[in-house]
Amino acid sequence: MKKISVLFVCLGNICRSPAAEAIFISLLKKKGLTDGFIVDSAGTGSWHIGKKADSRMRFAAERRDINILSRARQITSKDFEEFNYILAMDDSNFRNIQNLKNSADSTDFASIKKIQDFRSVFKEQEVPDPYFGGDEGFDYVLDILEDSVNGFLESIS
Ligand code: 4NP
Repeated sequence: MKKISVLFVCLGNICRSPAAEAIFISLLKKKGLTDGFIVDSAGTGSWHIGKKADSRMRFAAERRDINILSRARQITSKDFEEFNYILAMDDSNFRNIQNLKNSADSTDFASIKKIQDFRSVFKEQEVPDPYFGGDEGFDYVLDILEDSVNGFLESIS
């Protein structure tokens, strides 16, 4: 059976989208669904290409037994053809992804959505950027993402 491919996207690809990717991978593992999916993350920006996720996010995730292993990369027009779903963390990411799609010579394969479209417990319509804030912001992002990533999986199951 063809695998379902999911790309999580934020600005830097060192905080929110690597966390969403790792939470989704962990959820798939718990549900025995790993083999049915390809999961990745990317940033709209290029500053952190090749870097590990921010240590504050990695440590906050480790405390929940979630390992963030990704290295940052930038989204490319090829991603629109290779992924079934592209999930943006906030409105700005969403707009930037749409602009890239509109300027790309691609066949528009991916369904582009905001991850918070799938929230159930939390009211936030965007995943807040924790990069310039305190440690508690990273835990809050994980709380929000655990809710909406779960909702996303339910929506496609
Ligand atoms: P992210 O957070 O988009 O969740 O990875 C950020 C990381 C770095 C920067 C901004 C946001 N930055 O400006 O370098």
